This record gives sequence, C-alpha cells and structure tokens, in this order.
Amino acid sequence: MPTPRPFPDAAAVARAAAEVIVDAVTRRPDAVLCLAAGSTPTAAYQMLRGHAAAFAAARVVQLDEWGGLPAIHPSTCDAYLRQHVLAPLNIPDDRYTRFHADSTNPHADAARVRRALDRLGGIDLCVLGLGLNGHLGFNEPHDHLLPHAHVAALTPTTLAHPMVATIPTKPTHGLTLGMREILASRRILLLVTGAAKQPGLERLLEPRVDTHFPASLLWLHGNVTLFVDEAALTSSP
Ligand code: GLP
Repeated sequence: MPTPRPFPDAAAVARAAAEVIVDAVTRRPDAVLCLAAGSTPTAAYQMLRGHAAAFAAARVVQLDEWGGLPAIHPSTCDAYLRQHVLAPLNIPDDRYTRFHADSTNPHADAARVRRALDRLGGIDLCVLGLGLNGHLGFNEPHDHLLPHAHVAALTPTTLAHPMVATIPTKPTHGLTLGMREILASRRILLLVTGAAKQPGLERLLEPRVDTHFPASLLWLHGNVTLFVDEAALTSSP
C-alpha cells in the first residue's frame, strides 16, 4: 500500500483522479477501465467530460452491480455508469462489459463476465471506492474471498448504501468482480473521501491482510495509487 496522497477536499481528489484516468487512456487508447459506481468517484467521472476524445477507443468494465433490481432501475450501477461515464464519453455497448442486474441466472451472468474480462486481457486501470465495511466491489468481509466474478451475499451495512437504502425493491444479491480480477489490474486507483470513511482508511493503512477487511488485500498489489481527502485522513476530536 502506498502512503496515501492527501488532498484538502473531495474536489481536489476528483481532479487528481480524473488526471490519472485520462493519463491511462492517453498512454493506451484502448485501455480497459474497471469503474466503481457510488458517490466517491462521481465528481472525477464528471471531470472526464472535457476529455471525451481521449476515450474514443477505451473499454469499460463494470466493477459490480446490485442483483435483483429491474434492468432499467435508476439505482443500478449500470444506470450510474451510463449517466456519468458512457453517455458523456460516447462509449458504446460494444466497448462496455457489464453484469445484468435482472438476470434470472446470476451465477451464469457472473461466469459470462469472467470470460469477457479474460477476452479483454484484464484490467489496465481499476478505479475503486472503499466500502464502509472494507468491501471492494461486492467482495464483502468473510472467512474467505473469491477470485473471480461471482454472486455475493450482501451485508446489512452494504444494503444501507445510499444507492439502495430507500428503494422499495431491495437487491437480493451482489454481482462483482472477484479479488483476483481486481488484484490482476495493472494499476489500481483507490479513492477515499469523507469523514465516514476515516475508520476504514485507518484500518486500511495497517499493514495486515485480512479477508474480513477485503480492501486490506490491496497490500498484496504493487501499483496502488491512494488518494484521500483531509476528512477521511483526520480522526475526529
Ligand atoms: C458500494 C459499491 C462499491 C463502492 C463502495 C463505496 O457498495 N459496491 O463499488 O465503491 O460501496 O461506495 P461510496 O463511494 O458511495 O461510498
């Protein structure tokens, strides 16, 4: 794990993160970008709009999805990525690999994503947020973690995430890339902002790998960039 690079606020983190993402597609125009949904990366994604031309060959892979929601539900990670990334950057479906939230056979859907990611040759840049309970994607704290794309049981903490906390139809499961697929990324960009993430960030910075805090597996990766804001870094008095 690198020493976290601190920024004064979330907007500064977003600017730096957008630079890293643009740099990835500038170096390799057909880069495979794995993108998290959630509140943390939204501002960074919005800052990509001025650089749409750089994404003319970029490929996007969805990190995770809320399973059991209707396909067109506005709370899906798919809807989020379409709104914040795919539409503004003109990335068509044939350069986009995703889970199907409404699949009646989610295990087969996860296996399909695993094969598709293999065909893409893995991830060049993986943009991650930190779950309050230490999850990455929907790799939830557990006695063991799974290497490949899979169907995940969601914890109560995760089901309280703002994307789904107030919707009447709750997700029944998560669909997520597995830890090996994440850790095989050539570069990982982890963004941690806001006071609510302070305990998680503090735990993450302890050099101790534990499947009950999945983000700690990032200690096993040699090319993680960790951008944080002051609120996440500083213990409240
Ligand atoms: C969610 C998603 C993750 C996301 C994380 C943090 O549950 N499964 O992909 O990165 O939790 O979300 P946020 O950035 O909204 O705090």
